[in-house]
Amino acid sequence: MKAAYLDNAATTQVAPEVAEAMLEVYQHAFGNPSSSHAVGRKAKALVETSRRDIAAHLNCAPRSICFTSGGTEADNHAISAAVGCLGVTRIVTSAAEHSAVVKASASMEAKGVEVVHVRHHPSGDVDMAHLRELLEDSSSKTLVSLMHANNEVGVMIDLQAVGQLCKQHDTLFHSDTVQTMGHYPIDLSEVDIDFLACSAHKFHGPKGSGFLYTNPDLRIDGLIVGGGQERAMRGGTENVAGIVGLAKAFELAFVHMVEHESHVRGVKQLLVDGLRARLPEVVFNGNSDQEDRLYTVLNVKFPSHPNSGMATFLFDLEGVACSGGSACSSGATQGSHVLRALGCQDPQRASVRFSFSRYTTSADIDKALEAVDKVFAPVLVEG
Ligand SMILES: Cc1ncc(COP(=O)(O)O)c(C=O)c1O
Repeated sequence: MKAAYLDNAATTQVAPEVAEAMLEVYQHAFGNPSSSHAVGRKAKALVETSRRDIAAHLNCAPRSICFTSGGTEADNHAISAAVGCLGVTRIVTSAAEHSAVVKASASMEAKGVEVVHVRHHPSGDVDMAHLRELLEDSSSKTLVSLMHANNEVGVMIDLQAVGQLCKQHDTLFHSDTVQTMGHYPIDLSEVDIDFLACSAHKFHGPKGSGFLYTNPDLRIDGLIVGGGQERAMRGGTENVAGIVGLAKAFELAFVHMVEHESHVRGVKQLLVDGLRARLPEVVFNGNSDQEDRLYTVLNVKFPSHPNSGMATFLFDLEGVACSGGSACSSGATQGSHVLRALGCQDPQRASVRFSFSRYTTSADIDKALEAVDKVFAPVLVEG
């Protein structure tokens, strides 16, 4: 039985073209990019070509791209460098950020940095008036860290609007773009942004590969020190195959973005329509069914049901891979910090995230809807 894989916000299947490009590196370009001989120079050339290609898609200088082990490292690097190298003493962020940002900010708080949370509207959107107030209210050197799209409920910010606000207040701006990179066009010549984070495995690249973009006007130190790799921004022998895989995934994502987006929106709509037809009380957390939300994610709050606490487990038994964030009615789990932060959590109702990719088919959606019929079958009341 082939599983319907609807957990693409967690990770995606590596594209065959990416696997092929990586295999080529493992077999024919295994040199250490720091070696001065021809074998090393070949590997170095692949790293630098990858950097240039990625920078061209983002319209930024290649030197502003520092390859990392993925999104978590990029987020950590940005936040710790803002404090350690750029004099930041205050971080304005949200309780609904990915734990890479929540915990990196908390570790700065432990060192005496003030951490302030911006409010969200009931819709899940960041309260821009509150953000403006927070930036007007303080003279401390501030970093705003707000994700482009929330990985659980798909709420998005307007990068340009937040970037402009930060610029007006002489504030640094970091955005975790892990869920949008490769899915939305980002033109860095048009947005005022100081740091952004990318992770290849969210758009059919390999795990353990990503990058940190840093505004080239800023000078920061490495998070990992060692050799002088990545212009001393990240010590350690480069993951050449991972970098080449990232660049290939980037190219495929950017060249075919419009058709991928149209396909993904189509399969998502099939699920929205199927759920509405079956379960009139269904709620989409963070209004994740709306067009202006991250189109790869649908966060569904199912009606109250005895199976609520086991929903993702039961979906798995039915061959549907999706993810939780569910409020466990048994109290065995804490549920999702994002749903809690956005006020979406209901202990009686399961919240399940379904997330899609260009490889998701209508048959996957049919299978998910059949599973919904079983997991949330009407309960017969005796008597
Ligand atoms: C929004 C967001 N930020 C950061 C990360 C971490 O990325 P990585 O798995 O590459 O460390 C993820 C992955 O789950 C994510 O969804």
